[in-house]
Amino acid sequence: MEDFLHETVLLNEAVEALQIKPEGVYVDGTYGRGGHSQMILQKFEQFPESGHLLVIDKDPSALADAKQRFAEQAHTYIYRGSFAEIEQALADTGWEKPADGILLDLGVSSPQLDDAERGFSFRRDGPLDMRMDTEKGISAAEWLAKVDEQELITILKEYGEERFAKRIARAILRERETQAITTTQRLASIVAQAVPTREQGKDPATRTFQAIRIQINHELDDLKACLDASLDVLAIGGRLVVISFHSLEDRIVKRFMREQSLGDQYPHDLPIRHVDVNARMKLVGKPVKASKEEVKSNPRSRSAIMRIAEKLA
Ligand SMILES: C[S@@+](CC[C@H](N)C(=O)[O-])C[C@H]1O[C@@H](n2cnc3c(N)ncnc32)[C@H](O)[C@@H]1O
Repeated sequence: MEDFLHETVLLNEAVEALQIKPEGVYVDGTYGRGGHSQMILQKFEQFPESGHLLVIDKDPSALADAKQRFAEQAHTYIYRGSFAEIEQALADTGWEKPADGILLDLGVSSPQLDDAERGFSFRRDGPLDMRMDTEKGISAAEWLAKVDEQELITILKEYGEERFAKRIARAILRERETQAITTTQRLASIVAQAVPTREQGKDPATRTFQAIRIQINHELDDLKACLDASLDVLAIGGRLVVISFHSLEDRIVKRFMREQSLGDQYPHDLPIRHVDVNARMKLVGKPVKASKEEVKSNPRSRSAIMRIAEKLA
C-alpha cells in the first residue's frame, strides 16, 4: 500500500483550544493520519497520570494507521465508525467518564484525495467511489446510476451551491444512458462540458464533486448528530473544537454554538433572568483561521475556520 501523507491544519491552535489537563478524556473524532492525536498524546506526557484518548475515523486506512501507531499506547481507544456515534464510542471504551474535549477536523484527508483509487479527486483518474468507509453504503458511481433528476439537482444546489445544477444534472442523466459513469475523469469532463462559464481559479467539477461526496458520506447529518451528542457527552467545562473547510459545515457549527450559547429563546420584552435561559455552552474567543505562514506552506489550510465552545451545564 502506498504511503500518503496528511499535513495537519491548525495543529497547535486546535490542541491548545482543547486545554488538555491531567487525567482528562479527549476525543479525536477525525483521526485522518493522527496529527492532532499525536500532539494530544504528547501533552499527556507532561502529566504524571496520563489522560485518555478516543480516536474515531470511518476510513479503514486511517484506522489501520491508528492501530499501527497507537494500539499499544495505554489509555488510547480506537473506534471504527462515524463521529455521529460518539456516545456509543465513548461507552465502548469502558472509561465511564464524560469527555473533557472533542475535536473535529472535518472533511477529507490528503491521503483520501491523493489516492486515485478512492475516487475523491477530479484531478486523478480512478473509480468513482468517494466513500470514506469503503465497506459501507454505496459508491458515487452506484448512486449516480440511479438518482433521479430532481434529487440530483437538489443535491448539487444544496451541497455544492452549484448554480448550473440543472444543466449538470441533465448532462449526467443523458450521458449515463449511453454508458455508465464509473470514473472520476469521465464525471469531471461531463461537468466541464455542461457548464457555460467557469469560476476563476476553480475546476468546473469542484462543486459537483463536493456535493456528491457530502451526499455519499452523509457528512452534514453526521456533523449535526455529533454536535447534538456533544451536549450529552461533554463534562462541564469540556471543550468542543471544530475545524470546517467550507461554508456549509461552518454554518452548521456556527449556528449550533450560537444557539447553545443563547439558550432558550423568549420574546424580548419578557423579564427573564440570565440564569433562566439555560444556555448550555459558551463561545470561546473568535473563530480562528490559519496564519499566513501556514497557508503558504499548506494551501489546504486557506479555507479552514476553527470554532470553539465550552460546555456550561
Ligand atoms: C481532515 S482529515 C483529519 C486529519 C487529522 N486531523 C490529522 O491531523 O491527520 C478528516 C478525517 O475525518 C474522517 N471523517 C470525516 N467524517 C467523518 C465522520 N463522520 N466520522 C468519522 N470520521 C470521519 C475522514 O475519513 C478523514 O480521515
